[in-house]
Amino acid sequence: MNTYHRLPVTFARGEGSWLFDINGKKYLDFSAGIAVNCLGHAYPPLVRAISEQAAKINHVCNYYQSDVSIAFAEKLVEACAAGGMRNVFLANSGAEANEGACKIARKYSLKKYGPGRHTIVTLRGSFHGRTITTLSATGQDKFHKDFGPFTEGFTFIPGGDLAALDKALDEKTVAGLFIEAIQGESGIVPQSAEFIEGAARLCAERDILLMFDEIQCGLGRTGTFLALEQYKAGGKPVKADVVTLAKGLAGGIPVGAVLAGEKTAGVFETGDHGSTFGGNPVAAAAGLVVLKTVNDPVFLKEIGRKGEKMMATIKSWNHPKVKEVRGRGLMTGVDIDCEAWPLLERGINKADSGSNGLLMLSAGPKTLRFLPPYTISDSEIEQGLDILRELLDS
Ligand SMILES: Cc1ncc(COP(=O)(O)O)c(C=O)c1O
Repeated sequence: MNTYHRLPVTFARGEGSWLFDINGKKYLDFSAGIAVNCLGHAYPPLVRAISEQAAKINHVCNYYQSDVSIAFAEKLVEACAAGGMRNVFLANSGAEANEGACKIARKYSLKKYGPGRHTIVTLRGSFHGRTITTLSATGQDKFHKDFGPFTEGFTFIPGGDLAALDKALDEKTVAGLFIEAIQGESGIVPQSAEFIEGAARLCAERDILLMFDEIQCGLGRTGTFLALEQYKAGGKPVKADVVTLAKGLAGGIPVGAVLAGEKTAGVFETGDHGSTFGGNPVAAAAGLVVLKTVNDPVFLKEIGRKGEKMMATIKSWNHPKVKEVRGRGLMTGVDIDCEAWPLLERGINKADSGSNGLLMLSAGPKTLRFLPPYTISDSEIEQGLDILRELLDS
């Protein structure tokens, strides 16, 4: 179906931070499949784990358990413990994980307070997925047409606006607040420390669930396993009630996760939720490799360092076409004074002129977005930025 605006390239294989098209041309990957190929392409331990698991057992239905899926779920909860997580439901995608989060918020509130307290507050500019309910949760008007009626019970406030948040978090009608610590799709927009601290305080006072969509900004991308770990409330690390993850969680094999904290861990009871493929053994085997590699203090610190290097280099150019550079870790947004899409196309076309191509993303009409694999080397960052500079110069 005609759903995607595609760039003119077809890929055949990848290796590390590089992709090769069907004609053998080479492209440096600053996109990582929109934060999915977090360990680069054809990462040998990941390839091994997927192949070995596929040769053992690739699916077990939910009547039974699978050893590797249990191990993955345990490691994932352990990795998210600093964010307050206690247990997990495994799904297949981000939208599906977010559907689970909305269901947890609604049931938590219904059981404790009765009907009518089901609204979920999200932020303007947010992106939470493409199902009817996650589109309803997405705070961008362009997604609220053509497919109605949408799921009721979502309201939006501007990020950073504590007065609007205070007003929106009505304890009689609101079940949860659902936020991205750093909005990805709408331009790499980090929430301020004051806003998250205020949100955590108001949610705790009113028993409204504090839920983080970490699908794009989580999983180490910003230099901590969860982006929310970089925020404090009342001098202590922020603890969430619900966290969702997906994208890079199995390095390119589909998986999603909704994690619950102390208040919410017991909300789902037998029969409340399910998924045929969620937590599939092959995805779980891949996910174990990702967790083992990424949830390591040295590895996480390196992500932060590489991201700083990337941003500092772009800023140091003082390029007339660059208006602002934002981000955290390997999640960078660059506002430019021209349309981003033609630049993405020219990044691809570079490969026609005997040089390497550069794969970039956009996030809004005039914002470039870089989400390279965590395994990218310093020299690859330099090579990619040299190509970017040439593109901006010409
Ligand atoms: C923050 C955020 N939430 C949810 C989603 C939806 O994830 P999926 O496409 O896996 O359903 C995305 C995808 O871009 C995202 O960036």
